[in-house]
Amino acid sequence: MTIDTIRQDFPLLQKKANDQLVYFDSAATALKPLQVINAMNEYYFDYPANPGRGEYDLVHRAATAVEASRAKVAKFLSAKPEEIVFTSGTTMGINLVADAFVRKHLQRGDEIIIAESEHAANVLPWYSLQERYGIVVKIVSLDMNQRLTVDILKHHVSLKTKFLAFSDVSNVLGTKTDSKSIVSFAHQHGLYVLIDAAQSAPHFPIDVVELDVDFLVFSGHKMCGPTGIGVLYAKYDLLEKMDPYLMGGGMSLKYAKDFSIRFAPIPHRFEAGTQPVAEIIGLGAAIDYLMSIGFDFIHQQEMVLRNRAIKGLQAIPFVKIYNPNAEAGIITFNLEGVFSQDAATHYNAHHIAIRSGQHCVRNLIDYLQTDGTLRWSCYFYNTEVEVDAFIEATKKGMDFLDAFFR
Ligand code: ALA
Repeated sequence: MTIDTIRQDFPLLQKKANDQLVYFDSAATALKPLQVINAMNEYYFDYPANPGRGEYDLVHRAATAVEASRAKVAKFLSAKPEEIVFTSGTTMGINLVADAFVRKHLQRGDEIIIAESEHAANVLPWYSLQERYGIVVKIVSLDMNQRLTVDILKHHVSLKTKFLAFSDVSNVLGTKTDSKSIVSFAHQHGLYVLIDAAQSAPHFPIDVVELDVDFLVFSGHKMCGPTGIGVLYAKYDLLEKMDPYLMGGGMSLKYAKDFSIRFAPIPHRFEAGTQPVAEIIGLGAAIDYLMSIGFDFIHQQEMVLRNRAIKGLQAIPFVKIYNPNAEAGIITFNLEGVFSQDAATHYNAHHIAIRSGQHCVRNLIDYLQTDGTLRWSCYFYNTEVEVDAFIEATKKGMDFLDAFFR
């Protein structure tokens, strides 16, 4: 397996028109390989039916494909298929847990702890519980190494703390949390724990049994899958304690005019309405694809690229790097004195796609002491040649600065 053969799987990278494109924004969304696109097309071409809504062959084939994807996700996480709920993405997964579980089991005055580095998706659903139900949200700072740790939590957990939500990998800092120790500490204090794995599921193996985590969420589109599909893993006994979130077709076995409802078995009671069938199938294909590449290879390639990019950036005097010691392929930096969005247009002029701004993490502004940054993020399909093009474009950032202030 070489990067060249891998790149042939990605239509975007094969287009003549994209000869110069350098894509370093995989933390926002990853590119999609043919294997995923073809699996989705096959559904649309060959069996575009609505699973569970009919007794004909196409319906059975679609339903079988959906359950095969669920089984792949379960195996990917070392979970049971009935513990896998399909969602529209990480955001919906967290909202679902907030509204269907936390709202029900926490009282006014109970506390939820989140880290200051959390993405808006892992902040705003909790703010909303505070606003609507008086559940108190405590935002804790990271340590000097840009991590949430057990030591930090020791200072914040009280008898009122009932829930902890944190990201396994930060989408801005790229740091990997020691999630197993944190879950274990939280359980010793009777907390439920949710892990936002949006930035780790594409890059690191996850074993929910080993982690012993209560809830874990991620999105398909950051791991070579389609947009509009994500996963909520929850321990089965917690799913049993959870209210249905969306009400509608497919999530009840029976209801009557006396307002009685008998819900469908778990996990289907959490999947009301026609599901994004092609996207579920695409997610299954993405998992197959990533497994065929292997996480060892993925991580190794990302570290080669990251180290090369860090070394190149560190040699440029006007570059400020905010996260020199991360485990994931994410570098957050600025060209000193340049507004990040202006700098991003400079990169765009060099056909380099990177993200700029606050990356949906507004609570990190004080910690980083800046209003916005540039974020370079790689995946296994990127090359060292692309890193060099990125570094060359960065060096020209000084000309851009001159032009900007002239
Ligand atoms: N959450 C995605 C990011 O960090 C969109 O860019």
